Amino acid sequence: MELQVQHALNWIEKTNEKIQTNKDYLSALDRAIGDGDHGLNMARGFQEAVGKTTSSSYTSVSDIFKDVAMTLMSKVGGASGPLYGTAFLKMSMAVKGEDSVSHERFTKGVEEAINGIIQRGKAKEGDKTLLDVWTPVLRMLQEQSDFEADSLENTAKSAMESTKDVMAIKGRAAYLKERSIGHLDPGSVSSYYLFASLAEVLKEGE
Ligand SMILES: Nc1ncnc2c1ncn2[C@@H]1O[C@H](COP(=O)(O)OP(=O)(O)O)[C@@H](O)[C@H]1O
Ligand SMILES: [Mg+2]
Repeated sequence: MELQVQHALNWIEKTNEKIQTNKDYLSALDRAIGDGDHGLNMARGFQEAVGKTTSSSYTSVSDIFKDVAMTLMSKVGGASGPLYGTAFLKMSMAVKGEDSVSHERFTKGVEEAINGIIQRGKAKEGDKTLLDVWTPVLRMLQEQSDFEADSLENTAKSAMESTKDVMAIKGRAAYLKERSIGHLDPGSVSSYYLFASLAEVLKEGE
């Protein structure tokens, strides 16, 4: 299947729903190893993003991702705004030129998003950041030739859960060194919501 404009709109809306529902949980996770604002940051950013996408009309997935990127970058304080913003901007650029998005193009988009996140945040996989979810998801996408909702959901979930046992090297949690072990990375949990929402959209589109 291809990711159509309506799928992309649904993806952003579903992500926002999960983030609003789990806003306090995300902030509690961030309170344990950061400054406690991740829920607020993500809730504000995605609420604004949905405000933008639902009040606009689109002919391409690329334009949706671009509006999401611009909104997240301008409305979200904290590290996560520019990082998610960069991710959506890179995905927008990677899928530009066609109205809908093939699995191959989307995979390329996730790869570019990760490159952008690394360029901005200088973290790598294993540093207990949202890259610990994005990178296994990319590997899974690269191993497959079409969208597979269940593997997407499972991969993102187990990757998110794995951040618990890891010591933070980047982000605020890195100040805690060993004491960051035993806590989930907040940004990995919000990234799990993002990919779990995409998995739901893909299932509905089948
Ligand atoms: N340098 C980085 N590279 C990648 N992701 C990062 C980096 N720094 C922080 N993050 C992600 O951002 C999340 C924290 O976001 P948030 O609380 O909104 O911003 P802040 O850390 O500025 O308070 C972390 O859980 C982590 O996943
Ligand atoms: Mg924070």
